Amino acid sequence: MSAREFIPPSADLTRLAEAAKSCRGCELYANATQTVFGAGPPTARVVLVGEQPGDVEDRRGEPFVGPAGRLLDESLEEAGIPRSEAYVTNAVKHFRFTQTGRRRLHQTPGPEHIEACRPWLVAEFALLNPEVVVILGATALKALLGGEYRVTRDRGRLLPFPVPTNAEETATHHTHAVITTHPSAILRTPSEVREQARVAFVNDLKVAASVLAR
Ligand code: URA
Ligand code: SF4
Repeated sequence: MSAREFIPPSADLTRLAEAAKSCRGCELYANATQTVFGAGPPTARVVLVGEQPGDVEDRRGEPFVGPAGRLLDESLEEAGIPRSEAYVTNAVKHFRFTQTGRRRLHQTPGPEHIEACRPWLVAEFALLNPEVVVILGATALKALLGGEYRVTRDRGRLLPFPVPTNAEETATHHTHAVITTHPSAILRTPSEVREQARVAFVNDLKVAASVLAR
């Protein structure tokens, strides 16, 4: 199964978002409240890609509006990236969770969900023209760059994007990517080292900001 058949041809971002509301490309739509599509100006100079909507995002229908979103907003500001220059989206557009009583516990999307939902991400990128892509955590990394990179090993440096597969592409790559941790991972970090994790995150965002300052 895949989102592919739900994607309208030659749509703009608004119409893509509209079409994504009725996606049945994998089973995640069944238990979630709604599709959470990317948001931000089509002219954004920075595109940030997270994992999947969380509990708050699932209820509100917008990406990064819960606790991780607050941390992201503050960190972007500290790094000097204006929110108006950012398009924010997720690798997977429905919230995957397990229910225990009334609590909904986040469940990491599986490779099958990343793969099924990827056509939406590809369609978004086809309409965006960012100067830098910020990859927030392992799920977004898998969706965008495949299995070659690791968050801890490769974070915080400018990489060519899309990743070149041959020398010619290296010469013509049009954008940069920066890998960093996911803001939710920072929120889960033990409190003694959380500030350190947050500073490292802001430093990675500053690497992305350096592209905009050129
Ligand atoms: N975490 C994500 O990856 N995306 C969101 O939109 C919210 C939390
Ligand atoms: Fe479609 Fe993605 Fe939702 Fe699966 S997670 S139903 S592929 S929008």
